Amino acid sequence: MPATIIDGKALAAKCKARIKGEVEALSKRPGLAVIIVGDNPASRIYVNHKKKDCEECGIYSEEYALPEQAAQKELLELIDVLNGREDIDGILCQLPLPEQFDEKAVLEAIDPGKDVDCFHPYNVGKLMIGEPVFLPCTPAGVMEMLDEYGIDPKGKHCVVVGRSNIVGKPQAMLLLHRHATVTICHSRTPDLGAVTRQADILVAAVGKRDLITADMVKEGAVVIDVAMNKKEDGKLCGDVAYAEVAEKASYITPVPGGCGPMTRVMLLQNTLTAARTHGK
Ligand code: GUN
Repeated sequence: MPATIIDGKALAAKCKARIKGEVEALSKRPGLAVIIVGDNPASRIYVNHKKKDCEECGIYSEEYALPEQAAQKELLELIDVLNGREDIDGILCQLPLPEQFDEKAVLEAIDPGKDVDCFHPYNVGKLMIGEPVFLPCTPAGVMEMLDEYGIDPKGKHCVVVGRSNIVGKPQAMLLLHRHATVTICHSRTPDLGAVTRQADILVAAVGKRDLITADMVKEGAVVIDVAMNKKEDGKLCGDVAYAEVAEKASYITPVPGGCGPMTRVMLLQNTLTAARTHGK
């Protein structure tokens, strides 16, 4: 039987309606500052989406677009000003930054209380010890989707393919906190299929089209595709060979329309959380 499609777009619409209601109930409007440096076309699209999402949910947003040649000092000074502003609850610096920037230093300059991406080492550490302040957006969106479809990771073998700081590592941590047995695979894993075939829940977060084929998936597994790759025709696809894997999996996320919309929702959720912590 073909897999049930996990509809991230529909769930995102539902979550956004809830967030909008919660924002309206606050005493003051939450505020998000979005920083973009240079003219990476993908970053421009992401930032536009984030601003539109804020508008839809009643969150105030400001964009700071710095030129490609901007200096580290200029960006750090901007972050310093935003850190001190009471109307700004969240600060997001879109990655990647042009190569003259020290990305790590930039992320560490953001007030951890306004770090709605959950990239600051303080927040990463809090997540690691099971006391998260903010939730990492993409992994948290995955957990929301699992919950929505009644898929409990407890006692399951979850295999995460990819070990990035943004997705793979925090995803493993969130699943672990929900009592899953977690394996992380990566480019140096010798026989990837031998590990992925053990997965009850398989999360692919590599960025390599058709990496996960049907022979690498256990019958009835839940398959979550976090990746966003571009095909020759400009259309999006994930890491999973969707058509063949959908014949074998019990649940599967499409690309687009799966993890992407839920990642965006979690940013709104984190901004709401920040506003509440700031007494709004
Ligand atoms: N670049 C790609 N994904 C992200 C994200 O989630 N946050 C930021 N700040 N930059 C990104």
